[in-house]
Amino acid sequence: MSITHEGERPQAAVPVRRAIARSVLMCRPEHFTVVYRINPWMDPHLPTDTSLAVRQWEVLHQTYRDLGFDVQLIDPIDGLPDMVYAANGGFVIDNIAYGASFTYPERQPEGPAYMHWFEENGFDVVVPENVNEGEGDFLLVGNTILAGTGFRSASNSHEELAGVVGREVITLNLVNPSFYHLDTAVAVLDGTPGQEHIAYLPAAFDEPSLAILRERYPDAIIVTNEDAAVLGLNSFSDGRNVVIATRAIDFERQLRENGYTPIGVDLSELLLGGGGVKCCTLELRR
Ligand code: ARG
Repeated sequence: MSITHEGERPQAAVPVRRAIARSVLMCRPEHFTVVYRINPWMDPHLPTDTSLAVRQWEVLHQTYRDLGFDVQLIDPIDGLPDMVYAANGGFVIDNIAYGASFTYPERQPEGPAYMHWFEENGFDVVVPENVNEGEGDFLLVGNTILAGTGFRSASNSHEELAGVVGREVITLNLVNPSFYHLDTAVAVLDGTPGQEHIAYLPAAFDEPSLAILRERYPDAIIVTNEDAAVLGLNSFSDGRNVVIATRAIDFERQLRENGYTPIGVDLSELLLGGGGVKCCTLELRR
């Protein structure tokens, strides 16, 4: 029994969160702009500021370095403005890099570019047979991979991935076009097997998928529509520190209550392309 002072209510136990430094791949947005529209966030008529995008991205990069992460960089390619969203470049686990095969022609050349990087850097590359956008739609939680479909990754890529990496893959149906990738609707806060903890936006899913999430993750953080609307869920956690959009105010509060240390980063410029913190981050698991 813990001793409390008179009048002070005993606190519900908040788990101690443990940080594990990650290894990630990023791509400097040197060629970032919005010249086509493949998600509702993108408007080619609105101006973009590439140097501001780079400056904001540099803060994210430095934040990861300060957290002790190993940050690898892939060279940006002129004419591929969305290449900054490295999460879409593949899904990496056990040194296997399952490559991406993009939905829209505008991004298709990114698939081979990322696979080339994986190969050069010692990963075993698996060229995908089915359309998938990497960690944008595949999130590792414990020993399970949550896999999104509905807008981008095709559900047959879920089966393919399960075969390639020998993990359980759970299909979740996304129904709201603003949350077109799974990493815009789910945040993995703690992926340690046995203490899995996530946050999600219920309105992004159909009923059967919601039932799965409720059953598997009864203690999940439920984010507000307001926080999801600034891509607050599109965050990256090392198990304790959670790098999130500065404007996700209520999510920040909930993270603190749950024992995490939120770190706000402003990526407003990259939001014009429909991406945030997590989109710019591909985890490399050797
Ligand atoms: N403009 C990009 C697209 O629509 C944004 C990708 C965001 N990436 C992510 N992992 N959610 O494809």
